[in-house]
Amino acid sequence: MVQKEMYTFTDRSGESLTLRPEATASVLRAYIEHGLYTAPKPVKLYTIGPMFRHERPQAGRYRQFHQINAEALGEASPGLDGEVMVMLVDLFEQLDVMSRLRLEVNTLGDEACRPAYRARLVAYLRQHAGALCEDCRDRTERNPLRVLDCKNPACQPVLDAAPRLQDELCADCAAHFAAVREYLDAAGIKYAVNPRLVRGFDYYVRTTFEVVTSQLGAQNAVAGGGRYDGLVQALGGPPDPGIGFAIGMERLVMLLDRPPERPRPDVVFVPLGRAALLELAPAIRALRRAGIRVETGDPERKLRAQLDKAGRLQARYAVILGDDELARRAATLRDLTSGEQTALPLEDLAEGLRRRIRGER
Ligand code: HAM
Repeated sequence: MVQKEMYTFTDRSGESLTLRPEATASVLRAYIEHGLYTAPKPVKLYTIGPMFRHERPQAGRYRQFHQINAEALGEASPGLDGEVMVMLVDLFEQLDVMSRLRLEVNTLGDEACRPAYRARLVAYLRQHAGALCEDCRDRTERNPLRVLDCKNPACQPVLDAAPRLQDELCADCAAHFAAVREYLDAAGIKYAVNPRLVRGFDYYVRTTFEVVTSQLGAQNAVAGGGRYDGLVQALGGPPDPGIGFAIGMERLVMLLDRPPERPRPDVVFVPLGRAALLELAPAIRALRRAGIRVETGDPERKLRAQLDKAGRLQARYAVILGDDELARRAATLRDLTSGEQTALPLEDLAEGLRRRIRGER
């Protein structure tokens, strides 16, 4: 973990608290503590929630932000790397933002090939220290791979000519990376190999990736992730490999042109009076539990006003229950597209409606 970003403070009882900067480590602890590794692998887990980093705030970079986080644990196959990236791209496609995004992939090698590369890189960077910014010189000693991430224009000539890990991968890592790219090609996913893509966490090995945009200024990553084989074991668990990603929700929202559409209700209930509402309550609950989208009108309002609301919501059906219907023990079902009306017995209201909405009759 990057120490300087930790959001640490002393609470009222003098205890030192640190807020979580990301979800991966916590998800892995849950995987270990609750024995989730006994389930068929890969075990696929997700979490959505607030994260905290003590960074200098600017547009798109906050001290509290939200991530959609996904992890697939227990399988080392490069096909899984591909599957995880395809899922991420497909989500952005569904949200209609992928045309403004680019998937970048890289490999960071593993313990077999990275140490030798790191040593060569450090030697090279020290040799050219005079042409590098202070940040780069500092990172050369602390976290040399991160130097490749520097955006300072003055440093680019040196960094462009730096030794590349791609050229020094061990056979296993090279084969893994080739297989990942093959999978992405076969799935029809567009991507760019970015040899200078290094990520901010130390736990990554082999595959890393980011989904980036040029539309959010300096904060160009909307999502990032990679493999972390060895991390589960380092946290005290079995030797299970893993791969995952996190999407920054605020950055994603900044890319959306319009708010997500409110889904059309399947049915709007129109109770005319309190007694009618109480009669409908069990059906409203049963239908929602069956996954049907239900809205309910205000029982104190008139029929016309409630039907107008159902129309504005573009509901498929309205179910009207007034005094006449109560006396007859049958509600009036109105198809709001055709205007056609039928009677629905109250005894069978929820099930009758469910079947009709699901097209079962
Ligand atoms: P990360 O790249 O640090 O990766 O964060 C993922 C995403 O969270 C970023 O691409 C960005 O969209 C968003 N993000 C990060 N910091 C901020 C911030 N200060 N303000 C707003 N958005 C931010 C991880 O966190 C890894 N745990 C991802 C992962 C999961 N790797 C494997 N599994």
